[in-house]
Amino acid sequence: MGKFGLALGALALQTAMGAPTGPGKNSSYVDWRHFKAQGVNMGGWLVQEQTINSAWWGEYAGGASDEWGFCENLGAQCGPVFEEHYATWLTTADVDKLAHVGITALRIPTTYAAWIHYPGSQLYSGNQTQYLSKIANYAIEQYGMHIILDIHGLPGGTNGLTIGEATGHWGWWYNQTNFDYSLQAVDAAIDFIQNSGHPESYSFEPANEVIDNRNFSVFGTPAALSDKGAAWLLKYYQAVVEHVAAVNPNIPVMLQDSFKGERFWSGNFSADANIVFDSHNYWFDDTDATSATLAEDLCTRAKSIAGDGKFPVFAGEWAIQAGSNNTFALRERNLNTGLHAFYQHTQGSAYWTAKFYGNGTVSGQGNQTDYWNFEGFIDLGYVHLDDTSYQC
Ligand SMILES: *[C@@H]1O[C@H](CO)[C@@H](O)[C@H](O)[C@H]1NC(C)=O
Ligand SMILES: *[C@@H]1O[C@H](CO)[C@@H](O)[C@H](O)[C@H]1NC(C)=O
Ligand SMILES: *[C@@H]1O[C@H](CO)[C@@H](O)[C@H](O)[C@H]1NC(C)=O
Ligand SMILES: *[C@@H]1O[C@H](CO)[C@@H](O)[C@H](O)[C@H]1NC(C)=O
Ligand SMILES: *[C@@H]1O[C@H](CO)[C@@H](O)[C@H](O)[C@H]1NC(C)=O
Ligand SMILES: *[C@@H]1O[C@H](CO)[C@@H](O)[C@H](O)[C@H]1NC(C)=O
Ligand SMILES: *[C@@H]1O[C@H](CO)[C@@H](O)[C@H](O)[C@H]1NC(C)=O
Ligand SMILES: *[C@@H]1O[C@H](CO)[C@@H](O)[C@H](O)[C@H]1NC(C)=O
Repeated sequence: MGKFGLALGALALQTAMGAPTGPGKNSSYVDWRHFKAQGVNMGGWLVQEQTINSAWWGEYAGGASDEWGFCENLGAQCGPVFEEHYATWLTTADVDKLAHVGITALRIPTTYAAWIHYPGSQLYSGNQTQYLSKIANYAIEQYGMHIILDIHGLPGGTNGLTIGEATGHWGWWYNQTNFDYSLQAVDAAIDFIQNSGHPESYSFEPANEVIDNRNFSVFGTPAALSDKGAAWLLKYYQAVVEHVAAVNPNIPVMLQDSFKGERFWSGNFSADANIVFDSHNYWFDDTDATSATLAEDLCTRAKSIAGDGKFPVFAGEWAIQAGSNNTFALRERNLNTGLHAFYQHTQGSAYWTAKFYGNGTVSGQGNQTDYWNFEGFIDLGYVHLDDTSYQC
């Protein structure tokens, strides 16, 4: 990734949190035009990824590449193994650790199977929402954190990747049955938020990195989603915005931009829509990027993704692994540059990811864990959210 051709635009409005909201708005809720967050993702918790958790994967997955195959291989043991993982991978102690360095938001990916039973799916439907409630309530009640609840993949498969449902699954596209199931998952998630006791502490994100180009050399660029694909995704996004508004119009909807940027989508939503765009920013497969270039890359990107200013933009995923020549010594600079750049030029960011124990190799020093594990950066004393000298 890291090759986005997004045009520079007016910077998003930047005023203090708590500015007056519009008529009919409940000011307990966040308005992303003014709200900013320093967030992290809860990757590898309710959506499983081999790269995040190699040892656990190696022990239980039976050689599968994705959660679908993992659960299929485990058979009747899938429930107990996954429930144990939900209970132990992430606990309130993690929330404490994140809060103590100033993290104010958690983006929490889920599979659609947390919300609905989809016939034939091998994805596990269990007690995900109970664990989600426990962590979210704690984060909200102890620390006033904001929760971005994300449905990471949709019935049939949204991008051919493990995270879209399963490797090689593209069945979501142009399939009305799967579209309807997706909206059932959306309705269940909205219901969860609305009845959580803290609906004002949530944003809802109904999809992630939805793309239809099967040539993965363009993944992470605007070419990953065709015009025909964008029209189908737009139909889904507009339906989601209507479904949320019908239940509670104060709940913001976060729309992942499929690597096309806010500017691409902004003309298709009315200016008063309660939406925020989510742009993802990676350099791990950009061989021109190194730890040495990354600070400048992050600054340039943060300034460019703000779009045309019609809607707010949040950097919902990013990480500091570069495609070439990673070095330990530049991690602290790069991490803080990204944290400050996205907070300064957009509505903030969510690092990918809070916990990461993968053994994947990288160019240069160390392995993937050394570059993706946010809690590891906390342990190293690297997170300096109050040091504005990192701004750009
Ligand atoms: C605003 O939202 C909060 C949180 O959901 C709720 O407690 C409060 O009653 C709402 N206020 C109004 C005026 O609707
Ligand atoms: C990573 O861990 C898995 C599971 O233990 C193992 O199969 C694999 O060989 C390891 N890969 C590397 C690069 O060490
Ligand atoms: C889910 O939670 C319920 C209630 O806490 C419990 O009875 C049930 O055994 C759990 N299911 C699994 C699969 O662990
Ligand atoms: C749509 O998806 C459903 C459920 O996976 C499947 O049974 C059906 O054959 C698909 N329809 C088309 C036209 O592909
Ligand atoms: C995939 O996309 C790249 C970059 O646009 C292009 O060079 C390559 O030819 C494409 N591969 C196929 C099989 O179309
Ligand atoms: C968005 O609206 C524009 C016209 O304003 C239209 O040309 C474009 O096709 C729409 N995009 C999608 C994805 O439908
Ligand atoms: C990475 O480092 C090697 C050795 O110093 C150098 O030859 C190469 O050009 C560097 N790669 C990039 C992308 O800067
Ligand atoms: C990956 O890096 C971590 C942290 O430096 C280290 O503890 C671990 O042993 C490394 N794993 C492999 C397989 O090299």
